[in-house]
Amino acid sequence: MIILALESSCDETAAAIVKDGREVLSNIVSSQIKIHEKFGGVVPEVAAREHLNSVNMVIKEAYEQANITPENIDAFASTVGPGLVGCLLVGMNSAKTLSLVHKKSFIGVNHLNAHVCANYLNSDLKPPFVCLLVSGGHSQVIYTGSYNKQTIMAQTIDDAVGEVYDKVARLCSIPYPGGILLDKMASEGNPSAFDFPEAKVKENEFSFSGLKTAVLREIKKFDKNNIPKADIAASFQKRIADTLINKTKKIADKLNCKTIVLAGGVAANSELRKRLEQLNKEGYSTHAPELKYCTDNASMVASCAYFNPIQCKDSLMLEVFSRDKA
Ligand code: KG4
Ligand code: ZN
Repeated sequence: MIILALESSCDETAAAIVKDGREVLSNIVSSQIKIHEKFGGVVPEVAAREHLNSVNMVIKEAYEQANITPENIDAFASTVGPGLVGCLLVGMNSAKTLSLVHKKSFIGVNHLNAHVCANYLNSDLKPPFVCLLVSGGHSQVIYTGSYNKQTIMAQTIDDAVGEVYDKVARLCSIPYPGGILLDKMASEGNPSAFDFPEAKVKENEFSFSGLKTAVLREIKKFDKNNIPKADIAASFQKRIADTLINKTKKIADKLNCKTIVLAGGVAANSELRKRLEQLNKEGYSTHAPELKYCTDNASMVASCAYFNPIQCKDSLMLEVFSRDKA
């Protein structure tokens, strides 16, 4: 089954064609980073207009890269939520229109489930597994018992990890999007330079707002031009990775599940990937999506449309949603 999928939930306009949920035939991403850079973050109305400008182009390129014509597509899919409503409408209505024009079905996809499915791309991973999903909007540990059955085992009670990365980056005057640049900077710093606190929360909770405040307090002690950015980044990154990996491991042990995977934009983080790999030595089997499938892309949406679509009577009646829905 060949699916053409669109992703437009935030600041990436993406189209991809994927066969049987795993084999990527094309993957096109048009990023709006340059546009939002000057605002220091995503401006929803600007993002929605940009999606409109780019969507036809990414679809055309996806066909060209896959060397496929619309007659070869079995279904059209898009993210329908959670995300920015004006942005989601562009991808969803484009995919619905394609499905009507070519007389094929439309499949709606939940963005978070799509991030998890990024692990199936160009791999033979199968459930059950425990997934640490860390993105700009979410931090969760999810138990994926089967392709279409997932249980949230832990989640943040305040900020998402990606959000904290972006905020700490801003405090260090690192431009948007800060996560990836802060990660690079951390590689030049001493992870033991600062002992940032770990939040005392329940087994099924994460909390990162205290860490953010602790970093801010440290930064304020220095003259603006003398902030030891690399040491702060390295110490902050160590605390985040410790917290995320330890909790995920505990949950996996409790579930007696020996497979742990990563997902979401922060799954591209070098320290997190290193820690995940180390788990192999402790008897776990691990997996992380290729870097280009960690941050928002449409291949993961096509995979999710195949393995874990939103179930409904008439998919053309699906509406976009901004916040998490089961
Ligand atoms: O999954 P994603 O592309 O969008 C959402 O669905 O939220 O995640 C974007 C988030 C941003 O906060 C970005 O700063 C973070 O992922 N990110 C990283 C890295 N690459 C992207 N955070 C830490 N280290 C990275 N290498
Ligand atoms: Zn995302």
